[in-house]
Amino acid sequence: MSPELTDQTKKKIEEIASRYASKEAALLPVLHLVQHEKGFISQQEEKQVAHLLNIKPIKVKEVVTFYTMFNQKEVGKYHIQVCSNLSCSLLGSESLIDHLKNKLGIEIGETTSDKKFTLMTVECLGACEQAPCMMINFDYFGNLDKEKIDNILDNLE
Ligand code: FES
Repeated sequence: MSPELTDQTKKKIEEIASRYASKEAALLPVLHLVQHEKGFISQQEEKQVAHLLNIKPIKVKEVVTFYTMFNQKEVGKYHIQVCSNLSCSLLGSESLIDHLKNKLGIEIGETTSDKKFTLMTVECLGACEQAPCMMINFDYFGNLDKEKIDNILDNLE
C-alpha cells in the first residue's frame, strides 16, 4: 500500500479545485498532479482524490482506467508504450512488441526486476504517419524496426 498523499499535495489539490466552478471539473489536473508526485495512481490515491473532490471513488476510477496516460501501479524508469492500433499493427508493431518482450524478458504490463523498463501497449498515439511507433516516457519514436529499437534501448542509461 502506498503512503497517503502529503499535506502539501492535498493543499495543491485544494488550490487546483478552487479554480473550477465544481470540484469534479478539477479531476483531470488533480490526477496529473498526483501521478507527477507519486508516479502512479493506485486505488488508495483514487479514494483520497475522490474524498478531496467530494465525488464518488468510481468516478475517479472511470477516468484513471480510461486514459492510458495514468499509471495504476508503479512503472519503471523507462515506461515503454508501443502502439498496437491499426496503422502500427499493419506495419509490424506485433513483431516489435514480441521483440521487446524477448529483449526485456517481460510480458506486457510488467516491469523488469531492476525497475528500469515497463512495457505496455496502447491505442493510437496520434502519430500514425510515423507508424510503427512507441513512446518512452514523454518522447516519441517512430518508423521503428527491431534494429532501431535496439539502438534506442541501448542508449538509455
Ligand atoms: S495507429 Fe499507431 S500511432 Fe496511430
